Amino acid sequence: MNFHILTLFPEMVLNGLNTSIIGRAVNAGLLSVEAVNIRDYAFNKHQSVDDYPYGGGAGMLMQAEPVYLAYESVAEKLERKPRVIYLSPQGDVFSQKMAEELAQEEELILLCGHYEGIDERVLEEIVTDYVSIGDYVLTGGELPAMVMVDAISRLVPGVLHNDVSAEFESFQDNLLEYPQYSRPEEWHGKKVPPVLLSGHHANIEKWRREQSILRTYERRPDLLEKSSLTEKEKKWLDEMKKELENK
Ligand code: ADE
Repeated sequence: MNFHILTLFPEMVLNGLNTSIIGRAVNAGLLSVEAVNIRDYAFNKHQSVDDYPYGGGAGMLMQAEPVYLAYESVAEKLERKPRVIYLSPQGDVFSQKMAEELAQEEELILLCGHYEGIDERVLEEIVTDYVSIGDYVLTGGELPAMVMVDAISRLVPGVLHNDVSAEFESFQDNLLEYPQYSRPEEWHGKKVPPVLLSGHHANIEKWRREQSILRTYERRPDLLEKSSLTEKEKKWLDEMKKELENK
């Protein structure tokens, strides 16, 4: 999987993505992360890439041509026209489902805006997807691009050494992950739930599933509506709700 990030701040994205798990996956050749500096495609002697918006208004806009040339520098090397994602609060909100879908792509271009945005004409010409990472406004698209690269990369086979863990975690079947414990068995007077020490795998699985359901009910009830609970689990949850109310 190859990520190409078009940005005015290449060192920001490269520093952020060349460490830890993603950095290791890059070194192992499972991924590549290339940052293309849009400023290298400035077409005037001041190397400026921004200008005032027609019609007036606050701030500066990134001009169409440098963005287009930066895009072309990547696209011309590729056989097929890649998906180009523009990070913007106006886009579809990023989700695990979207990460799973994008992890199927071989090449992805991520376009990071700055200042007050980018000249609309180049967006019309090159962008295939508009993506937001949430309903708040950041100063640029770099952090959102890094968020996307991280979430997508960990789904690429081999990036997490343990492939099972990407499958059985938060958001699998719209349930949050169950609580986990490591040594010691008792810490600050708190004991590890006994079932986890029992070695009884079926009971452990049942407990974990129930904890996932309970946790999702308590913390993200909106997700629970989309999960596929069995009739038995629904009844169990109703009982738990009654118990919680009487506490
Ligand atoms: N650029 C600025 N804010 C953003 C957001 N919330 N998501 C994606 N890109 C952005």
